[in-house]
Amino acid sequence: MNHFVSVADVPDIPALVSRALAYKNDPYQDVTLGERRRIGMLFLNPSMRTRLSTQVAAQQLGMEAVVFNVGSEGWALEFEEEAIMSGNTVEHVKDAAPIMGKYFDILCIRTFPSLKNREDDYSELYINQFIKYAGIPIVSLESATLHPLQSFTDIITITEQLALQGKLDTATGKPARKPKIVLTWAPHVKPLPQCVANSFAQWVNAWGEADFVITHPEDYELEPSFTKGATITHDQDEALKDADFVYVKNWSTFNDYGKIYVNDPEWMLTNEKLALTNNAKVMHCLPVRRNVELSDEILDGPNSIVTTQAGNRVWAAQAVLSELIRRK
Ligand code: CP
Repeated sequence: MNHFVSVADVPDIPALVSRALAYKNDPYQDVTLGERRRIGMLFLNPSMRTRLSTQVAAQQLGMEAVVFNVGSEGWALEFEEEAIMSGNTVEHVKDAAPIMGKYFDILCIRTFPSLKNREDDYSELYINQFIKYAGIPIVSLESATLHPLQSFTDIITITEQLALQGKLDTATGKPARKPKIVLTWAPHVKPLPQCVANSFAQWVNAWGEADFVITHPEDYELEPSFTKGATITHDQDEALKDADFVYVKNWSTFNDYGKIYVNDPEWMLTNEKLALTNNAKVMHCLPVRRNVELSDEILDGPNSIVTTQAGNRVWAAQAVLSELIRRK
């Protein structure tokens, strides 16, 4: 693994899941692995879980983590090649990224999409420019179209739950029976990126160990290259039938880019809808708008595993950082 910006960077998902769960079992087993190494964490956008879990993970590997909130404390970076920088941008990534490469061993970046220009967002220009110019491994802390640390965490969490339920073949680390996993759209008050949904679909498909269903209102189709292989339906009740895991997430429209077409509260998961499932565990990446995106009764009920899921962010980050350290 040279970088960690999508599932394509991971040659063996079950092996990386095993490493993450081994860290959960014994967090300090590699506490000298990252000694005298440093990660830089650049936040062009806010974060709570990603920032804190990655810092904790680095510390547990003996690494120092330096955080720079570029979005609020830095000046605007330019990412376009051959730009005439007479506008608001102060420094070109071509100049900034190689300097980061001198300061750090691994560079982690969070950069959200604009949701204004689909072509620009889906080109992943920002993260690709850091890969091009930094000269060190790049870790996505959520980019314009993907959130790989979150999705890796989600596969870890599903694997862990299957093991707790006695449904994992311990010899192979794979489910004895493919669980039914449903990604369901949920309402929200503002347009959100498609990153988490794209990335979750990409990882579940690459993992290949699920009966995978995506449900959303009409006109909320995701980019097909991420969802290929999943069953897609606009009938949420039909999708929820016999589900073992329900992943709840809002996203804005992809085709007429970055819009909210509907905000129908009927799409919010409730205990009545949960009754259609196979006593499914409910997941969400957080932060969540209570009683808009997900009901109190679900979030505070016995089927919600959102806190466990968020806790597992540490082990995902630790497994990825350890892989990048070992490969250096
Ligand atoms: N799920 C997630 O990425 O959380 P933060 O935005 O708080 O980092």
